[in-house]
Amino acid sequence: MFACVNPQLGTFPHEFAGYSVSMEQLRFEERVAIVTGAGGGIGRLHALELARRGARVVVNDLGSATDGTGSSSSVADAVVEEILSAGGEAVANSDSVATPEGGAAIVKTAVDAFGRVDIVVNNAGILRDASFKKTTPDRLDPVIDVHLKGAFNVTRPAWSLMSEQGYGRIINTSSGSGLFGNFGQSNYAAAKMGLIGLTRVLAIEGAKKGIHTNAIAPIARTRMTEGVMGEAADSYLPELVTPVVVYLAHECCDRNGNFYSVGAGKVSRVFIGSTSGFEDAKLCPESIAENIDRIDDANDWTLR
Ligand code: NAI
Repeated sequence: MFACVNPQLGTFPHEFAGYSVSMEQLRFEERVAIVTGAGGGIGRLHALELARRGARVVVNDLGSATDGTGSSSSVADAVVEEILSAGGEAVANSDSVATPEGGAAIVKTAVDAFGRVDIVVNNAGILRDASFKKTTPDRLDPVIDVHLKGAFNVTRPAWSLMSEQGYGRIINTSSGSGLFGNFGQSNYAAAKMGLIGLTRVLAIEGAKKGIHTNAIAPIARTRMTEGVMGEAADSYLPELVTPVVVYLAHECCDRNGNFYSVGAGKVSRVFIGSTSGFEDAKLCPESIAENIDRIDDANDWTLR
């Protein structure tokens, strides 16, 4: 029997609500991980935990404000210090994920320091919330650049290495805002749902190369959600997001193309399904109008 340890929260009992945990600890010796946006918030905890479990980690962070303005190399440096002083291995990188050059430099940092890349956690993120009417290009473009293009920019150079070595684990950070919608976040939701499309395609393209790509939609108390969670904030510890990322990053994870909602200690799969629908060889707008309830009926569906 093995003790399931979350260093921030202590040792859990072996049984959670009737489920027992009885496997070996998931370790990452010989693995190299890149975590973007790892200078603070959820990403910092991903980096610390992967390092604690033996991975060599590139701690990337531009050191920007929540709206993406400004930069500082000190936040990535501070997390590397934490890892080194705990006996782990890590290097800092403060390039932006928002450009192809930045993405290439982040991957080069991993190769120069550790010789390979096994894991990419695309986590860097910013917010520029506004109602749709006020979502001008200066609020749209940087959000798409960091979240959606950022994942392309970092993952593409890593993908070549993963393809050659026949192994890789990619975790994209989506959001409930993208999956379900949220007022004032059309820019962010579009970028986050774009990551789901990217995840599904990479899952298909990577399957035969040993590369698995999955996504998470986290909910956690960080500076990004400060003031919007109310009393629930105390339950949404960022430490309760990292275990899912660690699992998805491990070689034992055979899932590919899935996305998981995770927050406050609960993990659930979110999936795409289609209803059994309505068929008519002479389909016309009137037959659709007559059968729209049947078309929409979500009681009978197929997993996609
Ligand atoms: P955070 O603001 O604490 O962390 C984001 C980090 O990304 C910051 O350290 C920031 O400096 C860095 N960053 C921003 N732009 C960057 C760039 N161009 N290149 C490299 N680094 C950059 O926020 P949090 O909450 O930890 O968010 C982490 C991820 O989780 C984000 O992608 C966010 O959208 C996502 N998320 C968070 C939720 C939550 O409840 N906290 C909900 C849903 C998604």
